[in-house]
Amino acid sequence: MLEVHALNTFYGKMQVLWDVSLQVREGEIVAIVGSNGAGKTTLLNSILGLVRPASGTVTFLGRRIDGLPSHAIAEQGLAIVPEGGRVFPEMTVRENLEIGAYLSRAWKSRKEMLERIYRLFPILKERERQLARTLSGGERQMLAIARALMSRPRLCLLDEPSYGLAPVLVMEIFRVMQSLREQGITILLVEQNVRRALEIADRAYVLENGHICMEGACAELLESDHIRRAYLGM
Ligand SMILES: Nc1ncnc2c1ncn2[C@@H]1O[C@H](COP(=O)(O)OP(=O)(O)O)[C@@H](O)[C@H]1O
Ligand SMILES: [Mg+2]
Repeated sequence: MLEVHALNTFYGKMQVLWDVSLQVREGEIVAIVGSNGAGKTTLLNSILGLVRPASGTVTFLGRRIDGLPSHAIAEQGLAIVPEGGRVFPEMTVRENLEIGAYLSRAWKSRKEMLERIYRLFPILKERERQLARTLSGGERQMLAIARALMSRPRLCLLDEPSYGLAPVLVMEIFRVMQSLREQGITILLVEQNVRRALEIADRAYVLENGHICMEGACAELLESDHIRRAYLGM
């Protein structure tokens, strides 16, 4: 579904991604794990065309998307839940959700999607008329995920959805991801919470200083000495 090949990305003269390649197949949950500053957000932004890689290719559903404007990439069925659950603070919950459907492929079915989303996140229905800035951190993260879903994505990129949330909400977010997968949405998940990410995903890539240093099935990575020492505190 998604094929990233040999991406090199710079900020000015500083190279942040080095020959990064990865694949996501339809129906998978794939994780990119790594510490703070490893280049995870830069990688997602490079895939989405928000940052322009110096070289490399990104192919989605058989078509090259690198070089396309971000809105054209979104039209192909790629959505992002940005870091920190960013939403529009001065708009209501409902308005934030409607903005998520503002793509030609999603607009017609926005009513039906809204109903589905309220079934998945009943709290958002309760908060429908509240301004987004009045939500708790967990609710805001739910809204950011829900807004991405309103665009009816085929592949959803999530940037550290559990970051800064209390443990019970972290569990809730990971439950939501399971249910997205059951609804046929493919997921590329970026996480610093390595244990949780490896528990939920099928496969993972380990990003260290902008290099993919390991990749494989999560069950195997959980057994790896390097992962256990560097990321699981064992
Ligand atoms: N807009 C930017 N301009 C310059 N440097 C940046 C910018 N964004 C990130 N960086 C730097 O790039 C590196 C990777 O950052 P980032 O992709 O945010 O990592 P992660 O998401 O894994 O924490 C860091 O050294 C960070 O300071
Ligand atoms: Mg980041």
